[in-house]
Amino acid sequence: MVCIEEAKKELHENTRPELKKYLDSIADYDNIFVCGPCWWGTFPCAIFSQLEKLDWNGKKVMPLMTHEGSGLGSCERDLKKICQGASFGKGLAVHGADAGRSESSVASWAKSQA
Ligand SMILES: Cc1cc2nc3c(=O)[nH]c(=O)nc-3n(C[C@H](O)[C@H](O)[C@H](O)COP(=O)(O)O)c2cc1C
Repeated sequence: MVCIEEAKKELHENTRPELKKYLDSIADYDNIFVCGPCWWGTFPCAIFSQLEKLDWNGKKVMPLMTHEGSGLGSCERDLKKICQGASFGKGLAVHGADAGRSESSVASWAKSQA
């Protein structure tokens, strides 16, 4: 319950939680899959803490979101604001309860996007 309320506060205040470690560069990659859970309709603010530090020019971005009913929520819109200069592929929503048996469907989606 504490986690759920903290996550809601972070989102409302547009917080960028400090991470212990950041990825410095995605220069070696063309296709970037941004994967995480749906928290209050979008990715956790901590994911945005990382994404905002990267150069997205010329990259192709695809979101994968686990959820309990909201699907991709507003994550595609939110990524488009943050990943300036990127193009976007098709996102994939995976129901949390099905995540453990989603490997083949996730793999075929990933291959179709890259
Ligand atoms: C803080 C918090 C907020 C959440 N908000 C949503 C939501 O808005 N919509 C939704 O479908 N699921 C929501 N969920 C459920 C998570 O998306 C789901 O538990 C997750 O995708 C499955 O991954 P997990 O097993 O790591 O929790 C929320 C979960 C948490 C902890």
